[in-house]
Order: sequence, then structure tokens, then C-alpha cells
Amino acid sequence: MVAERAASRTAVIVCQGRAAANGHLAPDRFADPTAMPLLRAEEQAQVHLVRHEQPPKGTTPRLAYEMIRASAEIMVPRTVAIDEAVLAAPAEQVVILGAGLDGRAWRLKMPGATFFEVDHPASQKDKQDRAESLDGDPPVFVPVDFARDVLTDALESAGHRADVPTIWVWEGVVPYLTRAEVTATVAALAARSASGSRLVVNYQSPSLLSDLIRKSMSAVFRKSGPWAGEPWRSTWSAAAMSRLLALHGFAVREDRDLLTVAATLGVVPKQQTSVKNGRVAVAER
Ligand SMILES: C[S@@+](CC[C@H](N)C(=O)[O-])C[C@H]1O[C@@H](n2cnc3c(N)ncnc32)[C@H](O)[C@@H]1O
Repeated sequence: MVAERAASRTAVIVCQGRAAANGHLAPDRFADPTAMPLLRAEEQAQVHLVRHEQPPKGTTPRLAYEMIRASAEIMVPRTVAIDEAVLAAPAEQVVILGAGLDGRAWRLKMPGATFFEVDHPASQKDKQDRAESLDGDPPVFVPVDFARDVLTDALESAGHRADVPTIWVWEGVVPYLTRAEVTATVAALAARSASGSRLVVNYQSPSLLSDLIRKSMSAVFRKSGPWAGEPWRSTWSAAAMSRLLALHGFAVREDRDLLTVAATLGVVPKQQTSVKNGRVAVAER
């Protein structure tokens, strides 16, 4: 395994979004008390500006402010949709794929369940350092680069059991993988999914507008932008995702866009396009 790339910066932004939203947006349905402790002091300071609605001066600080604010509006429906799907039918094993700074292993109360976190080695090392401040049992960490490593072997070595049902959480990762990498990962999950397993996958549906905004922002901010080293590599229509999952024995039970979920929470995002193009599918095997 090679860990030459840096820890994910997009993982920090989504964590900042959860920290900004905690107790502020849909407080009766959304909470993530693990988000703020997982952030470094300077990242927390940026979140405090958003929580207090104090936009900073200067282009780069203002960009960070707007991204965290927009991230909060996406994270609330995304987190609620995924949490509900996980808690609807708890299993003995939960595997979080591309975990980043996800705090579910500490936050979700699932007595007796073993949590595994799979992530790129660079991001995982950074997470382990940050997570020292969290109370509770840490997950089993499984360093994997989806583009290079054999996920099935890594899970087997980490103690994951293929004969016991698993809940797979795959949030905010699919866009960063090529279609071939997504396909190979679904095949690997299928190979380790006992009957009764459930896959909760968040992905982006194709949108010319979102693509254009992302490409222009990356061009303008180049190295200073969080997307610099993490371009989007694949988007999927709901029909294409459903076909891929069906090919590997997963039947989609539900697939909602995040704007629809946000409406159920009373959250009205300012930037509706990115929320509408985010989707969460729940599939069973
Ligand atoms: C936007 S973050 C999402 C993190 C987390 N799932 C969440 O929603 O808070 C993207 C994550 O995907 C992981 N990732 C991207 N490409 C990867 C790859 N080739 N192998 C392993 N992990 C990868 C990154 O390390 C990062 O943790």
C-alpha cells in the first residue's frame, strides 16, 4: 500500500459542515457532536464564523466560509438519510467506506456492533490522530486505496466476516472514483455481503451546472481550493446506479435526492442544485 498523497481536504469540509449545522439546522432530527472535536483549531475557527454568521473579508477566507455554509446544508439531509437507513435494521457489522472524519463509529448507538473504517491510508492516519479526543471505542481501521488495493483481502485480514450481514456506509466517496473503481468496489462488497446485508450509498447524479461550477472554482482557486487534488471522476443517474447494484445482487429499496430529504427536515438550502444532485440509495442483498 502506498500513502504518497495527502489526507483528504474534502473530508475536512464535510466535517466542518456537520460541525456548523450541529444544534443549528434541524436540531430535532440532526446532531453530530463528534464533528467539532475532530477538527483542528484553525478549522474550528472557520466553523465558528459560519455559526455566528460572520463572513470574513478577503477572497480565500470568504470562499472557505461559503463552502462550509453550503456544506452544512448538504450534510444535514445526507447524514439524516444515512443514519435512518443504518438504524432501521441494525447489524453486527458496520463498514464505513472512505470514512474521512465521519464520527458514526463513536456517535451511533448500536450495542454489540463492530465498526470498521476503510479509507485511504493518508486520510486514515490523519483521522486516527484527530480522533484521540473522542470518547468511546474506536473502530477497526482498515487502510485501503480503492484504486490500488484489494478491498476483500483487506477486510478479511481486519476480521470482517463475510458470513455475517453487514451494513455498508459509502458516503461522499463515489464521485472521487472512476466508474471502473466504483464497479470494482461494488463487486468487492457483494463478495463479502451475507444475505441480509444492506448498502447505503451516497452518490452524485449528472449535472452540467454542478460540473461547470466545480471546474471553474478549481481553475480559479487551483492549489488553494479543497478540490485541487480531489476531482470528481464519476456521476451516476439513479437508473445507472440501480443497474450496477442489481448486477451484483443488491436490490434498491429506496433512492432519494437530498433536496427531497431536506424538505422533510424543514431545511431550505440556498444552493439547491448541489443538494438536488446528491442522492442516497438504500439497497439490500
Ligand atoms: C468527501 S470525503 C468523505 C468522507 C466521509 N465519508 C464523509 O462523508 O464525511 C472523501 C473520502 O473518500 C476517500 N477516498 C477518496 N478516494 C479514495 C481512494 N481511492 N481510496 C480510499 N479512499 C478514498 C478520502 O480519503 C476521503 O476520506
